[in-house]
Amino acid sequence: MELTLSLDHGCGKSLQAQIFEQVRALILDGRLRAGMALPPSRMLAERFGISRNTALIAYERLTAEGYVEARGTAGLYVTSIPPDALILIRDAGKAAAQEPAAEASATEPLLCFAGSPGGGGDRPAFDFWVGRSDAASFPLRAWRRIVNRLLADESGYLTDYCDPAGLPDLRRAIADHLGRARGMGVTEDQIIVTAGGQDALNLVVNLLRSHTRQLCIENPCYLGASMLFSSTSLPIHPIPVDGDGIQTDRLPTSPGSLLYVTPSHQFPTGVMMTLARRLALLRWAEETDSYVVEDDYDSDFRYDGPPLTSLAGLDRGRRVLYAGTFSKSVGAGLRIGFAVVPRQMWDDARLLKARMSNGQAWLEQATLAAFINEGHFDRHLRRLRQVYKSRRDALVAALHAHFDTPRISGADSGLHLTWRLPEGFPSAREVQVMAREAGVGAYALSSGAAFDFNGEAADDILVLGYSSLDERKVAEAISKLKRTLSSGGTFGNDGRDDVLSGVRP
Ligand SMILES: Cc1ncc(COP(=O)(O)O)c(C=O)c1O
Repeated sequence: MELTLSLDHGCGKSLQAQIFEQVRALILDGRLRAGMALPPSRMLAERFGISRNTALIAYERLTAEGYVEARGTAGLYVTSIPPDALILIRDAGKAAAQEPAAEASATEPLLCFAGSPGGGGDRPAFDFWVGRSDAASFPLRAWRRIVNRLLADESGYLTDYCDPAGLPDLRRAIADHLGRARGMGVTEDQIIVTAGGQDALNLVVNLLRSHTRQLCIENPCYLGASMLFSSTSLPIHPIPVDGDGIQTDRLPTSPGSLLYVTPSHQFPTGVMMTLARRLALLRWAEETDSYVVEDDYDSDFRYDGPPLTSLAGLDRGRRVLYAGTFSKSVGAGLRIGFAVVPRQMWDDARLLKARMSNGQAWLEQATLAAFINEGHFDRHLRRLRQVYKSRRDALVAALHAHFDTPRISGADSGLHLTWRLPEGFPSAREVQVMAREAGVGAYALSSGAAFDFNGEAADDILVLGYSSLDERKVAEAISKLKRTLSSGGTFGNDGRDDVLSGVRP
């Protein structure tokens, strides 16, 4: 079929992003219906005078996000999205008029710490702890140059107060990055700079406190989020996660929920939430007058294709607040993250941030803003993606080398993947203990930086963060793990010969 697109070569947005967004809009508006075929990429390229590669990248992203599917060699077809789910998406901005008054009253300060249980001091030599950046890749030279320049030219700011919402330069840089990388049309006056992602979650929970009657959270989930939620007096509903993401049909139907999700790379399972679930979730939020906080902690790292749209980028009803962080992309010691809130909530969010901490340190913010604006950030991300991709590949290869057809998921993005242990293996918690004795840190879904409410999470899955181990260490760690599993570790080998069944000789 013929596609009516209008591509603008001079608008600053890439052609593939324009094709993706326009075809997506045609699908969400119902003008391209389920079962309709997209024109072949070659034809699209000829028709619009673009390279075939540009068309292919746009199509790949539409496929990855679930709008179209390949049918063998026949081409790409629009997937079926329940018509109900589309109603909300078409109804842009309706919710904006119904924003709740933000919470500005005093509540207990929330003390959340998502550090390692050992405080980092007694980590094993080969540690697959999640989300640690590679220290050697920190862009020290560029960073030092910028810091020195700022101290020489603008040191007056050190003795002054900053805007509690964050430096305008940094907020603009973040807004631009989110537009390019996450498909979000946001402006600087929707952004509050925070002390990492944890502080952004804290801000959102406090901002919506008076509107919220209950909290909902993925299960298993990120420990920092569970600690934050548990520190409130609100009822908590843990909602199970399966291979499609959070099970939206298990969400409460009573009004006034605040839901925490990690849709791009569920923490800790690594699952990407399907489009059908995303739409169901937005619809649920609208129908139950609820809000969603999207924790997009590691989405700068997608290895096998273009970046995907965030849930907030899909939400036109303004039901999704977004928590981002530079902890993974630059460094956790920086303590810089940000919250993106609907425009109508920004003034209250800024007041709240003033009350919580009166803003963030000037020097780190100004350095980061210059780092992004001068192009270092994009270069650094490109480099890090290569480093982490190569470590991920080493981990996947090592698992394949030592175990029969390992069931791996969540490997296409982020800084960790999960490995479902073969049948007959000890439980993940037992393997965690055995690995630890061999000097290897490998984590069950209920441990490490993950948390499992009610003991519901599967206990045959290990979480392996690979970003801080080089390829040699990754290979060595997995071979140690294999050796310890083969010998039965401290659990003894008696009656455990079956353990060997999934291990390669
Ligand atoms: C799932 C998830 N969310 C949020 C964060 C917040 O990180 P930070 O507070 O360091 O920015 C982390 C850190 O590891 C994380 O794993």
